[in-house]
Amino acid sequence: MHCYEDLVNCLSSGIILMGLGHLVHHRKTQTSYGRHMVLSPPARTVPARLAWFLQEIPALLAPLLLMLTSHKPSITGKHLLLGTFCTHYFQRTFVYSLLTRGRPFPLGVMVAAGFFCTLNGFLQGHYLLHCAHFDDEWSADYRLFLLGLVLFYVGMAINIHSDYILRNLRKPGEVSYKIPTGGLFEYVSGANYLGEIVEWFGFAVATWSLPALSFAVFSLSFIGPRAYYHHRCLRHSKKAEQSYHSTLILPCQTYPTSPYSISE
Ligand SMILES: NC(=O)c1ccc[n+]([C@@H]2O[C@H](COP(=O)([O-])OP(=O)(O)OC[C@H]3O[C@@H](n4cnc5c(N)ncnc54)[C@H](OP(=O)(O)O)[C@@H]3O)[C@@H](O)[C@H]2O)c1
Repeated sequence: MHCYEDLVNCLSSGIILMGLGHLVHHRKTQTSYGRHMVLSPPARTVPARLAWFLQEIPALLAPLLLMLTSHKPSITGKHLLLGTFCTHYFQRTFVYSLLTRGRPFPLGVMVAAGFFCTLNGFLQGHYLLHCAHFDDEWSADYRLFLLGLVLFYVGMAINIHSDYILRNLRKPGEVSYKIPTGGLFEYVSGANYLGEIVEWFGFAVATWSLPALSFAVFSLSFIGPRAYYHHRCLRHSKKAEQSYHSTLILPCQTYPTSPYSISE
C-alpha cells in the first residue's frame, strides 16, 4: 500500500478538530459515562468490562492487520513505534478491561469510542507503516526518539499504577466514590489522566508526526476537562475539604461547590 498523504492529513486535522470541538462543547458537562453518566430512560448500557474490551480492541487490531498485510521491508524504528502503540492498547483491551470495577457503560458512548479507536488505530498504523521515513533522517533524530519513548513508558507506568489504585478503592460490586491515596494521587487528583497525557505526548515526540500529535491533542482535550471535574468533585466533598490537598494536574485552584459526594 502506498502512503495516502491527503487522507493522513485530513484524518489528523479531523481528530484535532474533534478534540477542540469536544473541549468547547463540554465546557460544563462531560461525556456521559462513569461518574458523569446521565441516562435518559430508553438508553441501553453495556457491562463495563465488555464495553471497554469492545471499544478498545479496534485500536489494537487495525495496526496489527496493517502490519500483517504490509509488504514493505521491515524497518526497526517503524515496528518499535507501532509496537509501542499496540502495547498500550493490548494493556487497555486485555488487562484494564477485564479488571475494571466501573459502572455499566452507555451503549452510544461505547459505539462512538469504538469508532474513534478504529479510525485512530488505522491512522497511526497507516502513517507509521506507509508514510513515515525512518532511514538516515531517523538516526539523526535518535535522541528525540529515545526521549519520546521514555516519556511514553513513564506515562504508561503512571497510568497503569493510578488505574490500579482507583480499581482497588472498591470491593467487587461497589459503585461508590472514595478518595484515592498513594502514588501520584498524593500530588494530583487526575493521576491516571496525567499518565495518559504524558504517554501520548511522549509518543508524539518519538514519532515526530502530525497523526501522533493529533491524538495527543485529542487526549488532552478529552480527559483534561474530566480531570478538572474529578478534581472539583474531590475537593468539595466534605471529607475532602479536611483531608485532600492534592492538585488537578496543575497547581491547585478554588472551585465552586461540587454536586457530588464521596464516601471513604
Ligand atoms: N486517550 C483518551 O482520549 C482517553 C479517553 C478516555 C479514557 N482514557 C483512559 O481510560 C482509562 C479510564 O478512563 P475513565 O475516564 O473511565 O477514568 P476514571 O473516571 O478515572 O475511572 C477509572 C475507573 O476508576 C473508577 N473510579 C474513578 N474514581 C473513583 C473513585 N474516586 N472511587 C472509586 N472508583 C473510582 C471508575 O468507576 P466508574 O466507571 O464507576 O466511574 C472507573 O472504573 C484511564 O486510564 C484514562 O486515561 C483515555
